[in-house]
Amino acid sequence: MNQNEMKQLAAREAVKYVKDDAVLGVGTGSTVNFFIDQLAAVRDRIRGAVSSSEASTRRLKELGIPVFDLNDITGFDIYVDGADEINPDKEMIKGGGAALTREKIVAAVASTFICIVDETKTVDVLGRFPLPVEVIPMAREHVARQLAALGGRPVWRQDVVTDNGNHIIDVHDLKITRPLELEEQISMIAGVVTVGIFARRKADVLIVGAGDGVRIS
Ligand code: A5P
Repeated sequence: MNQNEMKQLAAREAVKYVKDDAVLGVGTGSTVNFFIDQLAAVRDRIRGAVSSSEASTRRLKELGIPVFDLNDITGFDIYVDGADEINPDKEMIKGGGAALTREKIVAAVASTFICIVDETKTVDVLGRFPLPVEVIPMAREHVARQLAALGGRPVWRQDVVTDNGNHIIDVHDLKITRPLELEEQISMIAGVVTVGIFARRKADVLIVGAGDGVRIS
């Protein structure tokens, strides 16, 4: 089974969590795209979605699924999103697709975060995947220096401007043994909009598509 097939397996499983009349939080990325495609089949029994990126919004609308402004929704049941890495405590690195800020916001409103990944994304310790940090453009070099002082090797993702008009720094060579602490520390640096560690709001349900089937925890 290839990686895309494993992603599809996880996405198909996540659709089983969709209740009638639901508003769904929808993440961003190639795994979530499989989930969005699956939503076509249940489109008539859901109210619509709240989206975490312009890309997901476009895809949802193409399928005829209404997309709501988060400000018009007081709460909803499930948020379905992928991850770049996830550890056994269901803490994650996210932001490989540069959508981390809106993802963190939408996840904060949801009651249940369902993370869908293929088995290559599960790790014991976060940090092999370079940690994305969204920054206000004028603060980029300041933030990079602070991240270097924390022991990382910051690299500006030069070809990317986020949906919010900001820049992304990818921090290499971090071994994240205390995700919650590091999330709070990096969030405090002036100029940081969002750090791609999702530990304070981690996943509640993890669905892994693997070569030998689906694992749920
Ligand atoms: C988007 O910014 C990310 O947080 C994605 O959720 C993450 O990169 C997973 O993407 P894939 O499903 O494409 O691997």
